[in-house]
Formats: sequence, C-alpha cells, structure tokens
Amino acid sequence: TDLTLTMIKPDATLRGLTGTILKEITDAKFSIVALKLIQLTSYEAQKFYAIHQGKPFFNELVEFMTSAPIVAAVLKKENAVEDFRQLIGATNPENALEGTIRKKYAESLQRNSIHGSDSNENAWIESHFHFSDKEIYDFL
Ligand code: GTP
Ligand code: MG
Repeated sequence: TDLTLTMIKPDATLRGLTGTILKEITDAKFSIVALKLIQLTSYEAQKFYAIHQGKPFFNELVEFMTSAPIVAAVLKKENAVEDFRQLIGATNPENALEGTIRKKYAESLQRNSIHGSDSNENAWIESHFHFSDKEIYDFL
C-alpha cells in the first residue's frame, strides 16, 4: 500500500519542532491525508505499544509518550512505510544516518522525536488506532 502512520513525539512537540518536522515530511514528497494533535492516555499508549509490553523500557516509554501532546498523521506516498523509515533514520539517533529526522532532532534512544509504522499491516492498524475511516482523506 501507499500509507503509513507517524507520530511526532513529546520531545519534539515540547521543543516547538512540529512545523519543522512536518515540513521535512512534505519536502520528502509525503502527502498528509490525516492530521491531529492529541495527548495520549496511559491506556492508549500501552495499547499502541502493546508489542513492547514486558520489555525493560516499556513503562518509561508509556510515561514519555503521555507526557505532552503528540501529532499523529497518516502519510501517503508510493512505498510509504519503507521510504518513511529511511527518512526518519535508526531508532537510536546515534546510529541514524546524516540528514535523517532522528539524526537532526532526536535527543536520545527514547526521546527520538518521531514514529513510523514498520509494516503495511501495522500502518493500517496504527492509522485506525488514531483515525476513523472518514478522517483519512483520499484527496491527494
Ligand atoms: P517507533 O517508530 O517509535 O516504533 O520506533 P522504532 O520502530 O524505531 O523502535 P521500536 O518499535 O523498537 O521501539 C519503540 C520506541 O521505544 C522507540 O522509538 C523508542 O522511543 C523506545 N525504545 C526502543 N528501544 C528502547 C530502549 O532500549 N530503551 C529506551 N529507553 N527506549 C527504547
Ligand atoms: Mg516500532
């Protein structure tokens, strides 16, 4: 498919980087087809990151992701999932390539500024976690 789900994380929204990061995304030829600012509840963050339940960083991750509003967006582009993971760079910013969003803006492994879905299946699940069908616009 051609959709992926992103979240601009609290470390970035708190530093006023929302506009800067959205511009990086659209400059890279992704179209925004759904968009909102939302502060996740603890229950929602636990559900979103359920795959990481039981890992040592899980509780800290949930605390971080609920600490301030995030920006959730559905992005459209050919090969969206793979191309977006390239654009954001490695999970740990120390390993992220020059020019990637995490290399430029992330503060640490946890406070890494942005999320991108890791498969087409998860892109669909994560998009519908944040948005209803009618909030995802087929206009671009
Ligand atoms: P997402 O796009 O946010 O899903 O990142 P990812 O797919 O590159 O990484 P992963 O799904 O493995 O981990 C989810 C998030 O948990 C990461 O983006 C980090 O914010 C955080 N995280 C992952 N591994 C660690 C870790 O070892 N320590 C800490 N403190 N946080 C971690
Ligand atoms: Mg992930």
